[in-house]
This record gives sequence, structure tokens and C-alpha cells, in this order.
Amino acid sequence: LLKVASKLFEDENQKLDFIQALVAPVPKPTALIWFVPKTHLGLIEIPLPSIYPDWVSLVPADSHIGRLPEHERGDFYCLDLSSVYAMQSLLKLLQDSELDSDSVVVDLCASPGGKSIFAARALRPAQLICNEVSGPRIPALLSNLKRCKILNATATQADPGYFSKFNQRVADLVLVDAPCSGQSLLAKGDKGFSVFSKPMINLNVGRQRRILAEASKIVCEGAYILYSTCTFCLEENEKNIEWFLKKFPRFTEISSGRMWPQDGLGAGSFYSLLKHDGERGSRQAIELEDIKNWPIFTAA
Ligand SMILES: C[S@@+](CC[C@H](N)C(=O)[O-])C[C@H]1O[C@@H](n2cnc3c(N)ncnc32)[C@H](O)[C@@H]1O
Repeated sequence: LLKVASKLFEDENQKLDFIQALVAPVPKPTALIWFVPKTHLGLIEIPLPSIYPDWVSLVPADSHIGRLPEHERGDFYCLDLSSVYAMQSLLKLLQDSELDSDSVVVDLCASPGGKSIFAARALRPAQLICNEVSGPRIPALLSNLKRCKILNATATQADPGYFSKFNQRVADLVLVDAPCSGQSLLAKGDKGFSVFSKPMINLNVGRQRRILAEASKIVCEGAYILYSTCTFCLEENEKNIEWFLKKFPRFTEISSGRMWPQDGLGAGSFYSLLKHDGERGSRQAIELEDIKNWPIFTAA
């Protein structure tokens, strides 16, 4: 932890605050993504910076929000604000009409669905493919998409390499919310200090790079990849992006950022928004015939 902190911060106080946030975590508030006009749910809302849209709210940590009927009805979806922080980088693309309701979005690492659900709410894309490689993680994804009534979503189960075999230049946006060492889980009270082990980090770097390389095939010319993690070390974040930009020189980084656990709003995240330099041209149709496809909605 000390080594990671020293690489991340020069300022001694910032370093100590970061370490403190991980060794003595305090409960974090919960962000709500609203699908209906916001109601107060009898809770005091925590004010949010203006980068967040008005259909996001933040409520105190001990709100037991998952037990409310409004949650069961799919009026909102709960997630850590760090996830919302990574995803808000897309709002600028929406403002600039770079993404709109004609867009096709592919989420390569989708379960349990937080980023897909944010994308559905923010962009209302024409097609949303929520892909998850791990079978045991599919039911949670299906249940969340269903509860939040994400009608135009398709849930698939494929390795990103298999998905890209049939689907090249199909998406206006590819989400890579990569499997990672999960160092931010410490800020939520998890005790696993193995998240700092070198082999664990290297294993993740390998798969993150592989997923990013597949994303580069799936995304259309001139379109976007949003890479994100919930871990802190440079290797899984900035260094991966350096590697990607060198290996795939047709991409540039449009924006990037980090949320730190010591700021008290979320457990922590990194994001990098990448753009292909080509002319926005035609898009190939999504091909799911050979890809395991899960029904989200079945006739009642
Ligand atoms: C950080 S989680 C995704 C969280 C999700 N995006 C959300 O916002 O709710 C990363 C996901 O990547 C999946 N995963 C693990 N190994 C993978 C691989 N080699 N290729 C693609 N996905 C993988 C995991 O099963 C996990 O569901």
C-alpha cells in the first residue's frame, strides 16, 4: 500500500489521507440513477458537484435503499459514485452530438450492469449489448436490466475475443469496465491486502490489455472506447493506456480522471475516454447468431 501510495502522490498529506482511507475506511454514500422523476424517499440528499446530471442523486451510506419498494420497481439503480464519475465523461459526447439515440453501445464486461444501466439512461442508445464472459455473473445482470426496464438491451455471454470475431466496427461506444485487482474495495471495508500483490496486478494487466485490444476491433472508425477500473495502481490504469496508445496509434485519449477514496464520495475509480481517429463512416450490423444470447424479457 505504501509503495502504491508513493507512486501516486508526491504530497505527503495526500499520501497519508489516501492510506488512511484504505486502512480505516468510512462508509460511502450511495448514488442513485433515476429512471423516473426523482423523489426524496424520506432521505437527506448529499449535494453533488455540477458534473453530475440531475437524474443522479447521492444518499447517505446507511439508507438501506435496496429494501425500498421504489428500488424493487426499478425507479432507480444504486451504485458507488466512483462508477458514475467514470461514466459522466460520456455526457460531453452527448452534448456534442457525438453519441445519440441512434448509437450502438457494446459493454464488454457488463455484470452486474451498473455501467450499462448508466449508458442506457444517459444515451438511450438504439442498441445496447451487455456482454459478460462469466456464466455465474449472468443472472445478476439479467435481473438488474429487467428491474430497470432496459428494453432495448441484449445480454450476451462471450469472451471479448470471440465477440470481436463476429463483430468488427459495429459500435459507436465500447465500454471496458475491466476486471481489475479491485484495490478500491479496501475503501469499502474489504480486508484483502493481496490486491497489492505483483502477480495479481500482472494477471489483471494481461487481461485488461487483451480486452482493450478486442475493443479496438469492435469500435467503429471515429468512435469511442471508455476504459475504467476500480483500482489505483498505475500499471492497471495510466500505464495500460500508454501501452494501448502506442500499440494502436489511431486512438487518442480525449479525457481521463480519477476519483480518490479520501474525497469521501466514492471508493475510487479511474477512467480514460479514447477516440479512434478515423472518419465516422458506416457501421456494420451487430451479429449475434453464433454468440450466446440471453433473453432479458420474456412474454408474460
Ligand atoms: C468490474 S466488473 C464489471 C462491472 C460492471 N461493468 C458494472 O458496472 O456493474 C468486471 C467484469 O469483467 C468480467 N471479466 C473477467 N474476466 C474477463 C475477461 N477475461 N474478459 C472479459 N470480461 C472479464 C468479470 O466477470 C466482471 O463481471
